[in-house]
Amino acid sequence: MRKKIVAGNWKMNMTTEEATSLVNGLKAELAIFRGADVVVCPPFTAISTVSALVQGTHIDLGAQNMHWEKSGAYTGEISAAMLRELYCHYVILGHSERRTYFGETDEIVNRKVKAALAATLHPIVCVGETLAQREAGEVETVITTQVRGSLAGLSQKEILDSVIAYEPVWAIGTGKTATSAQAQEVHALIRKTLASMYDAAIADGVRIQYGGSVKPGNAKELFSMPDIDGGLIGGAALDAKSFIDIVRAAV
Ligand code: 13P
Repeated sequence: MRKKIVAGNWKMNMTTEEATSLVNGLKAELAIFRGADVVVCPPFTAISTVSALVQGTHIDLGAQNMHWEKSGAYTGEISAAMLRELYCHYVILGHSERRTYFGETDEIVNRKVKAALAATLHPIVCVGETLAQREAGEVETVITTQVRGSLAGLSQKEILDSVIAYEPVWAIGTGKTATSAQAQEVHALIRKTLASMYDAAIADGVRIQYGGSVKPGNAKELFSMPDIDGGLIGGAALDAKSFIDIVRAAV
């Protein structure tokens, strides 16, 4: 049985003061919650503050990006070891906003995934098609290419330590959620792709989150689908009550 995992991607939101208030709100309900794995991914500037606040709770910490090199002349970048030092256990990699606005390719994402795993961070690896790709009937090609490329060369243990997030680009921040059937279809495709890269048992052990306009009102139905193992939440993760309600829908 795969344990569900719900992660909040705060994107470029939350000063440390705002983050403190949000996390205190989450702690009131989720500090000892065990029904699903719960992760918050603040911007880099709030990670240290949030790390101290979630210490000793069941709320886990993640980052939204990192560089693949260990250290060096990479102005503006952050390494896996820097994140581990602040007790991050997860890192979102290859988010569509990184792919679109910062030119991240599957090859770059793959380098980051390997660097994260080498530093004992769990990567949350994002894949997803655009609306144009969906309308052109390219979902299967796009998703299998992203999965194979972003996860190339991972050992069995490494793939099991990873989380995949299916985020259709057309559903992110648009209020247009994929229907639970549309999402399930792609999640099953991702699992089938993993089975062809490894085997059915390994594929069965990998957690695949859905992301894209998940709200308290649609979370339960999405999370009840057989291959949907939780969610990667953007806008609704910025409000304590909404995020708590979504986490509770995963049980
Ligand atoms: P929204 O939940 O705001 O659509 O964002 C989804 C997302 O991109 C999470 O990574």
